[in-house]
Amino acid sequence: MFGYPVEHTLSPAMHNAAIAALGLHYVYIPFSVPPDQIGPAIRSLVALGIIGVNLTIPHKERVLPYLDQIAPEAQALGAVNTVHNVESRLIGYNTDDRGFTEPLRAAGFSPQGKRAVVLGAGGAARAVTHRLARDGAQITLVNRTPERAQALADEVNRSVGREMVDWLHFAERTRLTDVMKGAQLLVNTTSVGMSPNYQAIPPIPLDALHPGLFVYDLIYRPQETRLLAAARAVGAQTLNGIAMLVHQGAAAFEIWTGTRPPLDVMEQAVLAGLER
Ligand SMILES: NC(=O)c1ccc[n+]([C@@H]2O[C@H](COP(=O)([O-])OP(=O)(O)OC[C@H]3O[C@@H](n4cnc5c(N)ncnc54)[C@H](OP(=O)(O)O)[C@@H]3O)[C@@H](O)[C@H]2O)c1
Repeated sequence: MFGYPVEHTLSPAMHNAAIAALGLHYVYIPFSVPPDQIGPAIRSLVALGIIGVNLTIPHKERVLPYLDQIAPEAQALGAVNTVHNVESRLIGYNTDDRGFTEPLRAAGFSPQGKRAVVLGAGGAARAVTHRLARDGAQITLVNRTPERAQALADEVNRSVGREMVDWLHFAERTRLTDVMKGAQLLVNTTSVGMSPNYQAIPPIPLDALHPGLFVYDLIYRPQETRLLAAARAVGAQTLNGIAMLVHQGAAAFEIWTGTRPPLDVMEQAVLAGLER
């Protein structure tokens, strides 16, 4: 993994546990790569014979010019989180959208024809919104910085060729209440509520949470954010970010090794890492 910083990542524990469980001869190592060094770092995969790498903040977009090929889903997102070295050709993928969508499907939720509210308009929101729009959901983006929400809505609508996404500011409480009451899915992609600021909660009207709303918070530290606790209290189905972390990692593992890793082993490694 190349990131900056990488000190708190759970990915090495998760991947090394899967490697050990399968008896494979690999090792997954985090490297702290400053932003201006991503070019030499990524080309070192070829020199060193490394089979692949995950990319995290701030490298997911910067890496694009250094790759030989980019898979369509990563092309659409303009962001790569997984690189595979295939006979010295570097191929970029994005497994974040599979990471997001597979736990949703496993929980029995199909986005087709549903109304979704996505909080945030950053990197994670991009993967989530593209995926949900392609899967047939009508989406309202809600963000603190309206320009970012508008830009993302325009980008996704252009990409799917239909008006699937509109946007609101958190301050538009009445409209946001109506939208939430009519929605079946609410996804928090903001970092609000993430440790160490776990007392924070996204500024939404909590009285608009309802039992018919599936509330998916991408945060995994803490495992139950205040948003998820509020949703659970009204009887809504909830999901935290652990499954997304495991599924995006599993998809990358499969790209590199051609082997489907044991998801339960990866999840146990993440849970153990979170307790530390
Ligand atoms: N489970 C997983 O595998 C997984 C994967 C990816 C990300 N995530 C989680 O998703 C979250 C976002 O990651 P990211 O990469 O998308 O980050 P990002 O690109 O920095 O985007 C952060 C978003 O949060 C909003 N935000 C931040 N502080 C806020 C505040 N005080 N009030 C209102 N909005 C605020 C930002 O709004 P502005 O546009 O106004 O700045 C932006 O929309 C993080 O918690 C991350 O851990 C989880």
